[in-house]
Amino acid sequence: MTIANALECSTSLDEIRSQLREKLHEVMPEFEIDAKAEIAHQINLLKKEMNAVILGHNYMEPALYHSVPDYVGDSLHLSAVSAKTDADIIIFCGVWFMGETAKVLNPNKTVLVPSDKAGCSLAEGINASDVRALKAKYPGVPVVSYINTYADVKVESDYCCTSGNASKVLAHLVEQGHQRIIFLPDEYLARNTAAEMDIAYAPALDDEAAAALDPNKPAVLGWNIRCEVHELFTPQDVDNIRRQFPGTVILAHPECSPEVIEKADISGSTKVMVDYIEKVDAPRYALLTECSMGDNMAGQFPHRDMIRSCNLRCQHMNQISLEDTLAALQQTRYKVELDAAVIEGAKKPIDRMLEIR
Ligand code: 13P
Ligand code: SF4
Repeated sequence: MTIANALECSTSLDEIRSQLREKLHEVMPEFEIDAKAEIAHQINLLKKEMNAVILGHNYMEPALYHSVPDYVGDSLHLSAVSAKTDADIIIFCGVWFMGETAKVLNPNKTVLVPSDKAGCSLAEGINASDVRALKAKYPGVPVVSYINTYADVKVESDYCCTSGNASKVLAHLVEQGHQRIIFLPDEYLARNTAAEMDIAYAPALDDEAAAALDPNKPAVLGWNIRCEVHELFTPQDVDNIRRQFPGTVILAHPECSPEVIEKADISGSTKVMVDYIEKVDAPRYALLTECSMGDNMAGQFPHRDMIRSCNLRCQHMNQISLEDTLAALQQTRYKVELDAAVIEGAKKPIDRMLEIR
């Protein structure tokens, strides 16, 4: 089955080389582009031979992003694709929790993540016993887990969400009459989503703040972990961009602090950023997110003027290279394996996430 938005991945070395040169001539020297094209060529041949599908998150390095994925996108879109594909092997060029989500959604497939070191500071900041303790503290309160969690945390959750549908999932629960919603683990995403919906927020572990909430109004109870990349952006960074490049539209990922989000022009998932750059004409765009995305967008939309930065990289996403992706296919590594009980338990909240889009 071909799912909508599949990309054409050429198996001709000449075509791959010229496509990469066209997209990346402003980002990389030609000799490096040509070396990457050779690897991409091998990947695309093997991928076809092995009936594999490659999913590439928007943060992948530019040479990978523009050559081998059959689908690129944010976590929500790639999860939906992984649920539907009938390829034998899913190679998830993203971080480990994304591979786990694909495995839960399509358990009979071989799911590979090209590095076993591609973690995530959010996923590592909470475990299943933390969630069980919160459920004991707030009995009957539904738990929404960000997709950036491991599968054992999802098992303990009622709903999952991504930054692409967090407010819709919360709105759904508010509509059902829930006055309290536990939202884990990203403190900033929880605060930003609550602010966007104009509902109250309190840290779940702060008894005084939780007790001070109006019992008749909905409120979000959050955890205390942040994305190690997005928490580094500051409101001064926004001011500096505006001073140096007047007229720039600043798009910030909602994992940034509420102070940054307040100063930015647009807040949204990586898909919101791609769609905005594609559709809205602006003098310049600055993306407050993992910096490969700026390079990827410069290649995808050459007529758009992207402000590029290169110091805020996600060390986890950056584990995945074209070289690792080739090795993943050649050696069928690194396999995502989950217990049947975990797959069963994590499926319900993930399915609910996909239903609310
Ligand atoms: P998106 O769902 O917006 O692609 O974000 C994933 C992520 O890890 C952001 O840091
Ligand atoms: Fe996790 Fe942050 Fe990296 Fe996204 S950018 S994968 S949230 S550490």
